[in-house]
Order: sequence, then C-alpha cells, then structure tokens
Amino acid sequence: MGWHRFLGLLCFLFFFHFHLPFTSPLCPPDQRDALLNFKNSFLLDKIASDNFDSPCTIYSRDPCSFKRGISWNKSVDCCSWDEVTCDNVTGNVIGLYLAYHPIHGTLYSNNSLHLPKLQVLDMSTCNLTKLPYFLNSLESLTYLNLSHNKISGEIPRWFWGISQHTLKHLDLSNNLMEGDIHQLRWKQLLYINFQENSLQGPLPIPSPSTHYFFAGSNGFTGEIPSSICQLISLLELELSSNNLLGTIPPCFGNITNLDYLALSHNKLQGPIPIPSPSTRYFFAERNGFTGEIPSSICQLSSLLRLTLHHNNLSGTVPPCFGNITNLDYLALSSNKLQGPLSIPSPSTRYFYAKNNGFTGEIPSSICQLISLLKLALSWNNLSGTVPPCFGNITNLDYLGLSHNKLQGPPSIPSPSTHYFYAKSNGFTGEIPSSICQLSSLLSLDLSNNSLFRKYTPLFWQYNQS
Ligand SMILES: *[C@@H]1O[C@H](CO)[C@@H](O)[C@H](O)[C@H]1NC(C)=O
Ligand SMILES: *[C@@H]1O[C@H](CO)[C@@H](O)[C@H](O)[C@H]1NC(C)=O
Ligand SMILES: *[C@@H]1O[C@H](CO)[C@@H](O)[C@H](O)[C@H]1NC(C)=O
Ligand SMILES: *[C@@H]1O[C@H](CO)[C@@H](O)[C@H](O)[C@H]1NC(C)=O
Ligand SMILES: *[C@@H]1O[C@H](CO)[C@@H](O)[C@H](O)[C@H]1NC(C)=O
Ligand SMILES: *[C@@H]1O[C@H](CO)[C@@H](O)[C@H](O)[C@H]1NC(C)=O
Ligand SMILES: *[C@@H]1O[C@H](CO)[C@@H](O)[C@H](O)[C@H]1NC(C)=O
Ligand SMILES: *[C@@H]1O[C@H](CO)[C@@H](O)[C@H](O)[C@H]1NC(C)=O
Ligand SMILES: *[C@@H]1O[C@H](CO)[C@@H](O)[C@H](O)[C@H]1NC(C)=O
Ligand SMILES: *[C@@H]1O[C@H](CO)[C@@H](O)[C@H](O)[C@H]1NC(C)=O
Ligand SMILES: *[C@@H]1O[C@H](CO)[C@@H](O)[C@H](O)[C@H]1NC(C)=O
Repeated sequence: MGWHRFLGLLCFLFFFHFHLPFTSPLCPPDQRDALLNFKNSFLLDKIASDNFDSPCTIYSRDPCSFKRGISWNKSVDCCSWDEVTCDNVTGNVIGLYLAYHPIHGTLYSNNSLHLPKLQVLDMSTCNLTKLPYFLNSLESLTYLNLSHNKISGEIPRWFWGISQHTLKHLDLSNNLMEGDIHQLRWKQLLYINFQENSLQGPLPIPSPSTHYFFAGSNGFTGEIPSSICQLISLLELELSSNNLLGTIPPCFGNITNLDYLALSHNKLQGPIPIPSPSTRYFFAERNGFTGEIPSSICQLSSLLRLTLHHNNLSGTVPPCFGNITNLDYLALSSNKLQGPLSIPSPSTRYFYAKNNGFTGEIPSSICQLISLLKLALSWNNLSGTVPPCFGNITNLDYLGLSHNKLQGPPSIPSPSTHYFYAKSNGFTGEIPSSICQLSSLLSLDLSNNSLFRKYTPLFWQYNQS
C-alpha cells in the first residue's frame, strides 16, 4: 500500500470519525410522525411564496427568511423541513413556524401534536377559529404566537395552564376573543399581548417579570388595580381604548424603566399620573382627567410625545415645558387650560393647544420653535399682536389662530405653509402683499376680521372654508 492510498484511507476514516458528528443529528422518528399526523389532520396550505411576506419576529430564523422547497417528506430528515427547527445537539424539534399557512379543516379536541421539547410555536395568521386543544399537551413553550387569526368566544380554562413554567412570549392579538380573564399564572412572562379582541371584565395583571403588556382595544372595565405597580420591569404598557374607570394608582412612578405608556380613550379621572422619568411616549388623551398639569411633568426629561387633549384639565400650564429638551409632539387641545401659553422646547414639531382658555399675547419666543410643522392655537383668548417672526419658522405646514382676540396686522407665515386659518379675530389693516409668497397654500381663511386689500389681482384662490 503506497503512501497515497494510506493517506486516502486516513482521510476517509477522518471524514467518518470527525465529519459525521458535526452534521445535524436526525429528528427523532416519533417527533417526525407526530408532525406528519398533525399535518394530515389539518390540511395545511402554504400561501404562494411570491406573496408571502415572511414575518420578522425575534424568533424568526436567520435572516428573517424561511427555507424553501423542502416539503414535509417522511424520507427526509424532519429537521430540514420547511417550518421546522431542531435542537442542534439532541435533534429534538424545538420550533414550528406556521405563520401565514391558512389551516383548513376542523380542530377537533383530539387533534394532537406530541412534541415534548417544542419551545417556539408560531401559528399567527393561520385562519384559526378556535384555540387548538393540543396546546394543552405542550410543556416547554417559551413563545406562542396566535395573533391575526379569527379565534372567537371565551378563552377556555385549560389555556391558562399551558407551559406553566416556561412561557415567556404570548401573542393573542387581533382575534375575536371574548369574556373575562381570571388569572395570569405564567411566572416567566416577558411579553403578553391581548390587543384588538373583545375581552371584558377587570384588567388582568401579569407576573412582575413582564416587560411588555399590551391590552388595548378591548372592553376591559373597572379601575386599573394598584397591583399593576408590581410590574417593576415594565417597558411598555398599552391600555388604550378600553372602558377603564376611576383614578390612576399614584404608585405608577414606581415602574422605573417605563418607556411607553398609553392610557388614551378610556374613562379615567382624577389627576393625570406622572410616570417615571424614563418615559418617552405618554398618551392620555380622551379621558376625564381633571386638575392642573403638575410641574413634576417636566421631570419626564426623556419625553418625545405627550398627548393630553380632550380631557378636563384646568389651571395654568407649568412654564417648564421648554426644559423637556427632546419633545417632538405636544397635544393639549380641548381642555380648560388658562393663563399664558407655555412654549415647549425648540425640538417640538407638533404643538396643539386649541380650544382652551389661554390668554395674553403669543410670546415671540414661539419663533424659537424652528422645527415646528403644525401649530394649532385656535379657539383661545389670545390677544395682542402676532409676533412678526412667524416667518422664521421655515417648515411650518399648518397655522391655526382663528377665534382669538388677536389684533394688528396678521403675521404671514413661511412660504412652506399649506394651511393658514386666522378668522374671527380683531386683525386690522391691509392684507400684506407678502401673502402672495405663500405659494404652497391649500387653504386660507382670514374672514371675519377688519382686513382690507386695495384692489389688485391676487395670485391665490380665496378659500371660504
Ligand atoms: C406574531 O405574529 C405577527 C404576525 O406574523 C407578528 O407581526 C408579531 O410581531 C408576532 N409577535 C411576536 C411577539 O413576535
Ligand atoms: C421524498 O423524498 C424522496 C427522497 O428525496 C423522493 O424520492 C420523493 O419523491 C419525495 N416524495 C415527495 C412526495 O416529495
Ligand atoms: C447550536 O445552537 C446554539 C444555540 O442555539 C448555537 O449557539 C450554536 O452555535 C449552534 N451550533 C451549531 C454547530 O450550529
Ligand atoms: C379562512 O377561512 C374562511 C372560512 O372560515 C375561508 O372562507 C377563507 O378562504 C380562509 N382564508 C384563507 C386565506 O384560507
Ligand atoms: C377525532 O374526532 C373526530 C370527531 O369527533 C372524529 O371524526 C375523528 O375520527 C377523531 N380522530 C381521531 C384520530 O381519533
Ligand atoms: C411605590 O409608590 C408608593 C406611592 O407612591 C410608595 O409609597 C411606595 O413606597 C413605592 N414602592 C416602591 C417599592 O417604590
Ligand atoms: C369636566 O368637568 C365638569 C365639571 O368641572 C363636568 O361637568 C364635566 O362632565 C367634565 N367633563 C368630562 C369630559 O369629564
Ligand atoms: C429649566 O431647567 C433649568 C436647569 O435645570 C432650571 O434652572 C430652570 O429653572 C428650568 N426652567 C423652568 C421653567 O423650570
Ligand atoms: C378672555 O379674556 C377676557 C379678559 O381679557 C376675560 O374677561 C374673559 O373671561 C376671557 N374669556 C375666556 C373664555 O376665557
Ligand atoms: C426672526 O425674525 C425676526 C423678525 O422678522 C428677525 O429680526 C430675526 O433676525 C429672525 N431670526 C432668525 C434666527 O432668523
Ligand atoms: C366673528 O368674530 C366675532 C369675534 O371677533 C365672533 O363673536 C363672531 O361669532 C364671529 N362671526 C362668525 C360668523 O364667525
């Protein structure tokens, strides 16, 4: 035997001894059969891959794309099937990604799926109409996504016990679920989403481990329980568009890393709560909040968006708003706020303060808001002359000054302006010819003032709206 052959044999042996152990282990036959039985019992379809937009969830496989072309074939290792992932050491099936596969057929309570090690099950957008009973036999799920189905009716009692010790992510959003939620017993939860259902009864409170809690657009009623403050790890809380009542527990500030808080469109009352200084998004519009806006709101130094419109807030606005240095969106409209206008920070692009009782002059410091796109100050009690510097706000798109007591010549905003409303004030004198520079105007109303214009043809179409 020559050296070359000997080397060849060595390589051959090396290949067998050292290459094979590095290939994926085979999927256990019982798990393969469980998958095949499952598939046969349901008639699983795949939406044509052309119009199949693969969901990029945190658990989607690298890089948010699905293996293509290997269908579920008994003579092929199930770990290489589309939609299936296995543990790369034991070969157990740990992930099943069925999103966007409409399921036809009936989910009988005897439909089973025995995959004891399954961790990730994505059955979002599968056209499900019931909660599949086989979920009850899965003990190791960490991620369950049943969102965007048509699951209707009350959530059965057994569902609250599935994967009791492991579940971290549960997405039930965008279904037709009804009824009360009695108790959330999963202790490891990080993410829970009930959005866009018809759930009712008291707001359930998940475990203190929860980082993301979405329960908006349901019919939850009653007060927000103060036990919500035990969720000290919360980053995002979405409770908008429910029927929540009463006052907000004052302990909200205890949730120290909160980033997003949405309480809009409920029937909440009492003083507006002040969340932790980490909060960047705070939505509380369309409730019945009363009292003054406390100056402690300016401790929310990270705020980007604050919406308090359509409440019953009164008193003066704290002058410290200008200290919230990154504020982008401030909505205070339709309250009973009074006193001088508080000017937010120069970063602000949207400032809505109409339909209140603000008095005094519009301070010329408003022109420091050089990023402003929309400024709504109509239906207040603002008086005096308008600062001539409005033209400095170079990207202004919308300026509403109607129904105040403004006087003198109207200030002409920047040529970027599309909408300019200043009717029913006390403006006097000649309409400045600079108004013809508003080449982008779509709508203009200066009616019901004491303005005049010597007869010269104007370039714009007068809009009576
Ligand atoms: C659940 O699936 C939907 C639709 O496929 C997706 O948009 C959503 O992000 C998923 N939820 C989680 C928590 O990954
Ligand atoms: C299954 O795989 C085998 C081997 O690759 C192939 O010969 C057979 O045609 C496949 N069957 C189906 C139904 O795709
Ligand atoms: C096996 O999986 C683990 C964790 O999922 C990963 O870190 C590792 O790189 C994988 N190993 C191989 C050989 O794919
Ligand atoms: C979803 O199910 C309904 C019947 O419940 C059916 O009419 C519809 O075609 C299904 N949608 C898809 C995408 O399969
Ligand atoms: C499951 O239940 C349905 C209806 O009750 C029945 O028709 C079917 O044969 C059952 N399947 C099995 C595998 O038991
Ligand atoms: C939570 O807030 C309440 C009321 O603001 C306070 O009395 C309590 O000490 C706080 N608890 C913690 C753990 O910070
Ligand atoms: C606002 O408060 C007044 C009393 O101050 C009350 O009559 C009214 O119903 C309240 N409006 C809302 C929307 O809560
Ligand atoms: C804004 O912050 C500065 C520095 O922290 C402080 O001196 C000033 O009083 C604050 N302004 C208002 C109106 O609160
Ligand atoms: C407007 O201001 C005047 C005084 O300038 C005051 O008499 C009047 O009550 C105010 N109206 C409203 C609606 O605030
Ligand atoms: C703002 O406008 C005023 C008056 O029109 C002008 O004097 C001033 O220089 C302008 N400031 C800036 C920064 O453009
Ligand atoms: C015109 O403005 C006055 C106040 O300046 C107001 O009382 C009146 O209702 C307004 N008329 C119309 C038609 O808007």
